[in-house]
Amino acid sequence: MRVGTIALAASGLLLASVAASANGAHPAADPAGIVKGRQAGMRMSGAIMGGIKGAIDRGDDVKTQAFAARSIAGWAAAVPGMFPEGSDVPPSGALPAVWSDAPGFAAKAAAYQAAATKMADAAKAGDKDGFAAAWAETRTTCQGCHDSYKKP
Ligand code: HEC
Repeated sequence: MRVGTIALAASGLLLASVAASANGAHPAADPAGIVKGRQAGMRMSGAIMGGIKGAIDRGDDVKTQAFAARSIAGWAAAVPGMFPEGSDVPPSGALPAVWSDAPGFAAKAAAYQAAATKMADAAKAGDKDGFAAAWAETRTTCQGCHDSYKKP
């Protein structure tokens, strides 16, 4: 119990320091590198989503898509941390609203994560209809964020 409490407190401190650096207390060491990394992640997420769509259209057993879906859910959870203060540098295609409207951006990221988690859960459960619906919902959240936070 006591050890658990200490571990929890320690992880809370760690999270707090990660959050502090994301808030600009420690400027990102390589802002352009972060931009390139998140752009690559976004492109890969597009490729994975396309691959999943192919499996849905073929009528594959959705359990075969569990790994792909889980990787999208993991990436979705990481997205907010990919946009630290100070990473608004070339070649970024992010709009200033990512930072000026941080709560709005966080809400879009949360919707993405929720939909992607549903997709991963449905794949694991072998729920074909739920999986297709969650894929479509996840796809909608991509555009939902890009409309306000990404340069066209
Ligand atoms: C919470 C907001 C958000 C969500 C959700 C989101 N994106 Fe993005 N995306 C962005 C932003 C902001 C950029 C611009 C990043 C930059 O260039 O710094 C971007 C960039 C991209 C790019 C261009 C990368 C490049 O090479 O310039 C692609 C492709 C992309 N997203 C695909 C997707 C797909 C597919 C999904 C859903 C599965 C998705 N995004 C979900 C915010 C989001």
